[in-house]
Amino acid sequence: MDSDKLKEQVELIRQVFEYVQLFKGKTIVLKIDGSVMDHPFLPMLVKDLVLLHRQGIQIVLVPGAKERINDVLTRYNIPWKTVKGTRISTPEAIPFIKMAAFDVSNRLMTQLAENNTSAIIGNWVRARSLGVLKGVDYQETGTVENINVGLVRKALEDGLIPIFPNIGWSATGKPYNISSNELAYILARSLKAEKLFYIFPHQGVNAVEYTLPERISISSEGVVTHLSVDQADSFLELNAGKAQDEMVELIRLGCKACAEGVARVHIVNGKIEGVILKEIFSSRGCGTMIYTNEHENIRPMHLADIPEVLRIMNPFVEEEILLPRNEEDLAAQVDEFVVYEVDSIFHACGALFPAPDASDRGEIAAIAVDHTYTGLGIGKRILSFLVDRARSLNIKNLYVLTTRTADWFLQFGFIEGGIQDLPANKRKDYNRLRNSRVLLLDLEDFRSVP
Ligand SMILES: CC(C)(COP(=O)(O)OP(=O)(O)OC[C@H]1O[C@@H](n2cnc3c(N)ncnc32)[C@H](O)[C@@H]1OP(=O)(O)O)[C@@H](O)C(=O)NCCC(=O)NCCS
Repeated sequence: MDSDKLKEQVELIRQVFEYVQLFKGKTIVLKIDGSVMDHPFLPMLVKDLVLLHRQGIQIVLVPGAKERINDVLTRYNIPWKTVKGTRISTPEAIPFIKMAAFDVSNRLMTQLAENNTSAIIGNWVRARSLGVLKGVDYQETGTVENINVGLVRKALEDGLIPIFPNIGWSATGKPYNISSNELAYILARSLKAEKLFYIFPHQGVNAVEYTLPERISISSEGVVTHLSVDQADSFLELNAGKAQDEMVELIRLGCKACAEGVARVHIVNGKIEGVILKEIFSSRGCGTMIYTNEHENIRPMHLADIPEVLRIMNPFVEEEILLPRNEEDLAAQVDEFVVYEVDSIFHACGALFPAPDASDRGEIAAIAVDHTYTGLGIGKRILSFLVDRARSLNIKNLYVLTTRTADWFLQFGFIEGGIQDLPANKRKDYNRLRNSRVLLLDLEDFRSVP
C-alpha cells in the first residue's frame, strides 16, 4: 500500500475512535422509509446499526410502513383515500393498517435477531385523533400526543433497541394510524437525541427541484449539503407551494427538531451502502444535513487548538501556499485566528488581522481547509465569518496576499490590486521573492457565493 493511502486510512481510524468516544451513550433516532425496508441493502444497514449499538450508541428505530399498508389494503380489497398526503384511515382499514405496521417492525426485529441483538416493540406512544380538518374527517388517523419517555429510556439503558411501529393509542386504548415521519421527530425531541436520521431512497434535497435561499452549499451531485435552521426556515417559505412534497415535510420536521434541541438532522439515501457510518464517522456526509446555525462550528482559536491548526496548515505550508508559522507565532496571534470544528474534529482555520496603521483596513490570511473536507463550503463559511468579524470591527476594506488562490477569492468580490495598495507597514514587509498577488475587497462588494 502506498504511504499516502496508509496515512489516509490511519487518519480515518483515528477519527472513528474519536467519534465513538463522542457518541457513546448518545441517542440516535432513525426513520427508515418503507421503500428502503424492501431494498437489498437493508441487511447491511441493519448490520451497521448493530455496530453502532455495540459501541454504546443508543439506537431507536421507526420503520415506515406506507408501502406495506398499501399492499395489505390492496390484497384485502379495502379502498383508501389520501388528502394532502395524509391517509384517511377508516375503522374498516385500521386492523389491516395495524397488521402492516407491526409486520415491518417485526421484519426489523428479525434482522436484529439475526445479528444477535435484542430489540423490543412497545406501546409507548399516546395518540389522539387528527379529527376534522377543513371539512375532511380523518377518522382513525391520529397525531402523536406524547411518548412514555421513562420506559423507552429504561429499554435503552437495558441495551435494547426500541422499534416503533407507526401506531399510537389513545388513553382508552384506541389505536390510531400516525405518521412515522412525525413520530421520529417527536421521539428525537423527547429523547433529546443527538441525531435524527431520515433514511430515504433519495440523496437529500435535489437543488434543481426547489427554490433555494442564498448561500446554500450544493455538492457536485447537485444535492444541498447543509441547511442551518435559518436557511431551512427560508427554504420552507420559498417552497410553501409544495407543502405536500415529502422532502419539504422532512425539512419542516428537521427544522423543528433542531430548534427544539436535536443537534443535527440528516436526510440520507438508504440505498447507498454504509451511508449511516459515513454520516456519523466522517462528518462528510452524502445527504442533506440540517443544523442549528451557520457559524455554529466556527469559534475563536484557543491556545490548546494550536497543534490541530498547525496540522491543517502544514501541508499547504509545504506546498508554499501558506506562509510558515510555528507554535509561538500562533500563540502570539491567538486572538486573530478562528477554527472550524465539528464534533471536536478540526476541519479548518482562518485569520483576520486588523491593519496596525489603518483602522479601517484588515488582512485575511491563513484560511486553510483540511484536504479531507474541501469542496463542502467550509472555506466560504470561514471567509464569511471573517467578513462579519471585520464589519463588527468597523473595518471597511480587506486585502489578502496569495500565491495560488486568487481565483477563489475573486468570486467573492475581491479585485486585483498591487503592492502600492497595501498599508505602509505591509508594503514595507512585502516579500518580493514570494511575489504574492494582492487582492482587495471593499466590504460593500462582498458577494456570498451559493
Ligand atoms: C481555497 C480553500 C480555502 C477553499 O476551501 P473549501 O472549503 O474547499 O472551499 P469551498 O467549498 O468554499 O469552495 C470550493 C470551490 O473553490 C474552488 N477552489 C478551491 N481551491 C481553489 C483555488 N486555489 N483556486 C480557485 N478555486 C479554488 C473549488 O474548485 C470549488 O469550486 P466549485 O464550488 O466550483 O466546485 C481550500 O482549498 C484551502 O484550504 N486551500 C489551501 C490554502 C489556501 O489557499 N488558502 C487561501 C490563502 S489565505
